[in-house]
Amino acid sequence: MAKSALITGVAGQDGAYLSALLLEKGYDVHGMVHDKKHADLWRLEELQIADRVQLVDGDLTDQKSLERVVKATEPDEVYNFAARSFVAASWQDSVLTSEVNALGALRLLNAVKDHAPKARYYQASTSEMYGNSHSDNMQDETTPLHPRSPYAISKLFAHWMTVNYRESYGLFFCSGILFNHESPLRGIEFVTRKITDGVARIKLGLADHIALGSLDAERDWGFAGDYVKAMWLMLQQDEAQDFVISTGTTHTVRDFLDAAFQEIGIDNWKPYIQQDERYRRPLDVERLCGKSDKAQKILGWKPEVSFEALVRMMVEWDLRRLTPKA
Ligand code: GDD
Repeated sequence: MAKSALITGVAGQDGAYLSALLLEKGYDVHGMVHDKKHADLWRLEELQIADRVQLVDGDLTDQKSLERVVKATEPDEVYNFAARSFVAASWQDSVLTSEVNALGALRLLNAVKDHAPKARYYQASTSEMYGNSHSDNMQDETTPLHPRSPYAISKLFAHWMTVNYRESYGLFFCSGILFNHESPLRGIEFVTRKITDGVARIKLGLADHIALGSLDAERDWGFAGDYVKAMWLMLQQDEAQDFVISTGTTHTVRDFLDAAFQEIGIDNWKPYIQQDERYRRPLDVERLCGKSDKAQKILGWKPEVSFEALVRMMVEWDLRRLTPKA
């Protein structure tokens, strides 16, 4: 019999890539959305799987709806991706962010514990939980957590609840501490996609600048398509554990600009960048660089797409998307 997977946040970047992976493996994929009649499924459509994902209505702020969804889908695996995931917005939206990311995860954990206790659960934790904390300039599973945004604090709560439920009830609940992962399916509000979209527009004469905040932040950027494989592997192990998933290399926003503008033959991108205070955060995480040795050893996972290949993939995709059809 086919395994059943339940994915919350199925319409997002990770939801789309994971759905494609699980469908390929023969799973029945149930995707939770707020309202299936009005869901924007462009990412699933891009991957040509929109008609193969079975949508189900549910809401992380509504306990009863989660119980209904878990009972109806009888999942073997649950992946909790639904979240308010834009860090910058979380200062304005701190209550809603906590309601969804923190209490929402707890509601789902309770629904799975009570109605599908044999299911394996994956919590989307994040490198943002480290803040500026590091061990020898990198972060791994042992690095102390010191979140620097309402978003990161909400994710920290969900992370520890997942660990606590595993330890309290012996459930197969894991947390993946994922560093930034990008792709052509990334939302336009995140800096990578904002840059590749802007670069494509500049090349096609549709824009003359990109407005950005801090160019100094360093991030460990990997390819989302690689990262969903690690999530699946975590749930196939004999023992539930938490893993850092990252590339182990870090780049500044400036480096990203270098690589993206190089794709359209521009070396000096400074004239095309406007520094805009609106895109600076009250507090930012300065440098993230993850050590994923544990995942490499236990899961046999490693990233396949390099930073340069990722930037190229995104710029090429935006150029194709924005070029007028003949
Ligand atoms: N979004 C954005 N827009 N970021 C900018 C801009 C801008 O105009 N200018 C500079 N930045 C800087 C941000 O200040 C931050 O230091 C860095 O670019 C990356 O920002 P984002 O792409 O928004 O990602 P993030 O690192 O804050 O968070 C992402 O990764 C986390 C995992 O580490 C999100 O996907 C989170 O949901 C995820 O948990």
